[in-house]
Amino acid sequence: MDKLILHHSGALHGAVRVSGAKNAALPIMAACLLTEEPVVLEGIPRVTDVVTMADILRRLGVRVDQDETRLLIDPNHYTGSSAPYELVSVMRASLCVLGPLLARHHRARVSLPGGCIIGPRPVDLHLKGLSSLGATIAIDHGDIIATTAGLYGTTVHLAGASGSSVLATANVMMAAVLAQGRTIIEHAACEPEVVDLANFLIAMGARVTGHGSAVIQIDGASELHGATHRIIPDRIEAGTLLIAAAALGGDVTIIGARADHLGALIETLREAGVGIEQEEGSLRVRSDRRLKAVDVTTLPFPGFPTDLQAPIMAMMAVSQGLGVVIEKIYPERFMHVPELRRMGAQISREGSSAIVRGVDRLSGAPVTASDLRAAASLVIAGLMAENTTELRGVEHLDRGYEHIEDKLASLGASIQREAS
Ligand code: UD1
Repeated sequence: MDKLILHHSGALHGAVRVSGAKNAALPIMAACLLTEEPVVLEGIPRVTDVVTMADILRRLGVRVDQDETRLLIDPNHYTGSSAPYELVSVMRASLCVLGPLLARHHRARVSLPGGCIIGPRPVDLHLKGLSSLGATIAIDHGDIIATTAGLYGTTVHLAGASGSSVLATANVMMAAVLAQGRTIIEHAACEPEVVDLANFLIAMGARVTGHGSAVIQIDGASELHGATHRIIPDRIEAGTLLIAAAALGGDVTIIGARADHLGALIETLREAGVGIEQEEGSLRVRSDRRLKAVDVTTLPFPGFPTDLQAPIMAMMAVSQGLGVVIEKIYPERFMHVPELRRMGAQISREGSSAIVRGVDRLSGAPVTASDLRAAASLVIAGLMAENTTELRGVEHLDRGYEHIEDKLASLGASIQREAS
């Protein structure tokens, strides 16, 4: 397992380009199961979650070839309809093959994702949505088995206790594009990744409107054709880099970062005292003083993203004053807290909230990442901390950040990967 060696770093300077969005790429790769014709996907991030999704598609009989950041996907004649436990258990997003398989083959067997380190992650909304369209669902030997004699459009309500669900919206949308008649998804997720999926489906000939709002309307088609599509830039990677530049100080241009995808973060960083300007196709972040404490509440888009909660907590750990984090999506998503505390952060937890009292400095320590975004938080903390931080659990970082150590090093951060 590799580890990252992080040294106390000064201000960051320069420009860096954001990769394509992992969370858009994964459901869009699954959506290729809806056609028989070849698809070309551009702007694919080189991260291990994409490798896992490509492996699932290959297991189903799909040809997948990668050429740098392009994927050539040829689903012609694939016949498989099962996604096995060993792949689903390493990546929950594997679940989004369920909708397309059901729509194309009228049957799907997908291993039920188990518990997750960031807390309970139920699948009830996925199953409820697909049942509404006419699927019969059973759980057998740990697998979801979905069958149908034919899917029919209807009104599907996807509101959960924590609001909308991104991948349940994706699953229902992908099933509905080949269902007979009109489907209306109420309480649909509005995340940019859902919009990107809808745009891809439209490029394949699907009739979808309302994406980006809470009500999506889909008129089923009898078949979809191949398409070429460019994945949107990764707003979470862009946000992580914005936070790193804000926390360490400096003047950094993030090429490809979109202000319309990052509104809540930009507002929070400005409140903390960071300068952010939108330039042609990029965001420029300037930070030259100790930041003020801020409060953060995570919410579905366009609220503050849960995936940036851990990274911004590293910044808050050295801000001036007291800040409160309220986690409304995953109330137990605080595994980074004990690790940040080992580096000298003063953070106390109360249920789904954390109170962060900014300290003057963090001190380097050996720390371990338990998940993708916790890893990003510890990278930022390690670069701010005195002396050296050794970060284990780097495989989590590699699931969703493409060579982040090279991107940060190109801006002047002192960060190296060591194979062990
Ligand atoms: C996606 C993202 C993930 C992000 C999350 C929330 C991908 C591959 N992953 O995950 O990075 O953190 O959105 O923005 O896109 N819920 C239910 N029942 C369900 C499904 C979800 O109650 O059937 C709840 C979840 O427990 C959570 C909330 O709904 O509280 C939102 O989760 P959801 O949007 O479904 O997350 P994912 O789509 O799995």
